Amino acid sequence: MKDAHIRFETATDKVATRITKMRPSAVRMLFAAATRPDIISLAGGMPDVSLLPKTAVRKAARAAIDAQAITLQYGGTNGLLETAQVFCDIVRDVGIRHKPENVIITTGAQEALDLIAKTFCDPGDIIITEGPTYLGALQAFSAYEPEVHTIGFDEEGMRMDLLEAELERIGKGNPRLKFCYTIPNFQNPGGVTMSPDRRKRLIELSHEYDFIIVEDDPYGRLRYEGGHCLPMRALDESVIYLGTISKMFAAGLRVGWIMAPPGVTAKINLAKQGTDLCGSMFDQKMAAAYFTETAWQHTLQKFIKTYDKRRRAMMDALEEFFPPEATWTHPEGGFFVWVTLPAYVDANSMLAEALDHGVIYTPGDSFYPDGKAGRNCMRLNFSYPSPEDIREAIRRLAEVIEDRLELYRAFIKAGAISE
Ligand SMILES: Cc1ncc(COP(=O)(O)O)c(C=O)c1O
Repeated sequence: MKDAHIRFETATDKVATRITKMRPSAVRMLFAAATRPDIISLAGGMPDVSLLPKTAVRKAARAAIDAQAITLQYGGTNGLLETAQVFCDIVRDVGIRHKPENVIITTGAQEALDLIAKTFCDPGDIIITEGPTYLGALQAFSAYEPEVHTIGFDEEGMRMDLLEAELERIGKGNPRLKFCYTIPNFQNPGGVTMSPDRRKRLIELSHEYDFIIVEDDPYGRLRYEGGHCLPMRALDESVIYLGTISKMFAAGLRVGWIMAPPGVTAKINLAKQGTDLCGSMFDQKMAAAYFTETAWQHTLQKFIKTYDKRRRAMMDALEEFFPPEATWTHPEGGFFVWVTLPAYVDANSMLAEALDHGVIYTPGDSFYPDGKAGRNCMRLNFSYPSPEDIREAIRRLAEVIEDRLELYRAFIKAGAISE
């Protein structure tokens, strides 16, 4: 018999192939560095929960404590009906009509992503996403071993010409094609928003090529300029719509939701039973109380004002410090800016120098399924640091980029590499 230590070592040999294929999240690894006081982090994606009024938080927590017979007990897999009703009321403002009985409350939108892939994907099935896309979605999907096909975007969101060409290649009626996952508002990591025309076109294509649209909308309420765009779920009831309280209230409470047609809801419910039986009733009750018993709309305006100031600080600093070779997106809301550097700059290897200069960001390759594309890109977050820190971080980062560019300019001049 092997001794316990050897057994512990060799147990990793038994790990499933899907786990060995998973890449660790660069963002998680960066969290350790982000806590150093000399580092300004543009790497995360955290809401600034210090903006929440303590009285509102206390009121919501009190409501959850007072209902302990419900909130400290197991609940139904779909979650608290009361909370589902609150989410249906919230999305009615943006044009979505949905019945609370057909809502599944999830442990954050992150669990929703896992459940969607668990419900729809066999190994080798095809998922379409924006490229780059939310790395947590890529991580969740990868456990079910799909083929992820990425489609580039511009300032109007996912490019429909590229999508149509890809759909032609996949073929009409291909049973392996399951869904298109998109973040139409202030995309993570791109910061771009899908135009109303492209939303309509995507819906048409979903019918023509027979795939589901999964619309992930964590940032929709955080718009700092421009007019509101209707969610695709408001235009077509076959769309699966994902929401979360993480950016409007509290990311630590882990409450999100899935709004899907009733037949699909029943299947996702089966998938969720095996995952966690039910989500946290305490968190769900707190969420319901926050959105019914406090002035949450007022607090949301406070979030919007604060994040807008930080977004402007980032846009101004990029203009002031970044070299002319760099380009970046101009988000009208959300948390992120996507920066593209000349093709010869590797943002991944540059991170170590950035850390030495006291700034970190998320390298672009983290947002692609194979980690091969996006190497000359980076995602910058503006929701968390102060405007002063953002300016200083961009100044430091510009220095690091300038060093790289100088090196490459010298190589190019010497004819050692081509532009
Ligand atoms: C696009 C997107 N979807 C889902 C999530 C997960 O959110 P939650 O905190 O609700 O799990 C995030 C978190 O940053 C996100 O950016």
